Amino acid sequence: MLKICVCVSGGGTNLQAIMDGIADGAITNTQIVGVISNNKNAYALERAADHGIPAVCVSPKDYEDREQFYDALLERVKSFQPDIVVLAGFLVNLPEKIVKEYQNRIINIHPSLIPSFCGVGYYGLKVHEAVLQRGVKVTGATVHVVDGGIDAGRILLQKAVCVEEGDTPKILQQRVMEQAEWKILPEAIDKIANGKLLLD
Ligand code: GRF
Repeated sequence: MLKICVCVSGGGTNLQAIMDGIADGAITNTQIVGVISNNKNAYALERAADHGIPAVCVSPKDYEDREQFYDALLERVKSFQPDIVVLAGFLVNLPEKIVKEYQNRIINIHPSLIPSFCGVGYYGLKVHEAVLQRGVKVTGATVHVVDGGIDAGRILLQKAVCVEEGDTPKILQQRVMEQAEWKILPEAIDKIANGKLLLD
């Protein structure tokens, strides 16, 4: 059984896709052992709690400095004893100490086709704004290994999504989530859980 800890910051639609995948059998051999958010108001925490999954907030606001926050975050992840850590809309750039502790055991979903529209400043709606600004006709989402860089680790899965006439960033974000993110993140977890996708 693959034990996963999911880190979230916002609405938790990717977390919901994972929970739904486990419930309907699209994801097998997997258990969410804990959900952690850096944002106490994240609706993702409610989604987890509604499913009886331990859901906690580790907020930087509760610590003297960034290093103490990172230490608390690492301790909380370790407390769930996960096999892998899944970053699902998590807006904290993990420090080296956490990446090293879970070397090749952290995956992230990014709402573009890496290496396009990724890196510093490219998150949430900003990604889709840049996509529309550049005028590309195809975008999508990427699941990749977290290696200490920003959106820089080994690419595991990608799925393309068409940009359509009249798209706004919000409309495009919703299509990328529905047609790509909510499909390839559960797919990646299921493949990892069943030995069809290796992280190292
Ligand atoms: C979405 O823009 C998603 O593409 C990115 O984080 C944002 C929120 O995702 N990964 P979620 O609804 O909290 O899963």
